[in-house]
Amino acid sequence: MKSYRLLYPMRTYLVVAGRGEEANVMAADWVTIVSARPFMVGVAIAPQRHTWKLVKKYREFVISVPGVDMLDDVWIVGTKHGPEKLKETSIELVPSKAIETPSIGNALANIECKLVDERDYGDHTWFVGEVVSGSAREDAFSGDRPNLEAGFLAHLSWTDFVTFENKIYRPGR
Ligand SMILES: Cc1cc2nc3c(=O)[nH]c(=O)nc-3n(C[C@H](O)[C@H](O)[C@H](O)COP(=O)(O)O)c2cc1C
Repeated sequence: MKSYRLLYPMRTYLVVAGRGEEANVMAADWVTIVSARPFMVGVAIAPQRHTWKLVKKYREFVISVPGVDMLDDVWIVGTKHGPEKLKETSIELVPSKAIETPSIGNALANIECKLVDERDYGDHTWFVGEVVSGSAREDAFSGDRPNLEAGFLAHLSWTDFVTFENKIYRPGR
């Protein structure tokens, strides 16, 4: 087993980069919160990815949260390269609120980021973005926590994905 699998299951996200005809989407597991205030997120992208070039070029990106209903599209954008693949998917690119990089209209949420830092570690580049705006579906994010019935997607191993059981565990009970 690859040693990084010890950190799995990990949530799977979509990264949008580029604009207009150049707009592209890839799948990414290696996404994290870097700072709460200001809200900053990081994503590790390998230099072979077309998305890597677009983040470098436009210095912005969107992290989208797919539902398990988008799994076939996640797989396409996670295994094929460049904007042509989007024609094979039902991904709806829609204007973002604060940046030129589009968001994904049929995702559960979109986090719009302006690139503030980048650093190469081994075979990936960590891109850190400051979150400048975003959007979220109310049925997936209302009250003080995400609604598990929305079907958040997590990655188990190469072709295997899971979603969350709708059961809450609390310490001390
Ligand atoms: C579930 C899943 C998660 C992935 N996570 C990452 C990741 O975190 N970083 C990365 O560089 N590539 C990741 N990939 C690979 C890219 O999504 C894949 O190489 C994609 O085809 C790149 O598209 P692009 O060349 O159009 O940018 C992942 C693939 C899948 C299927």
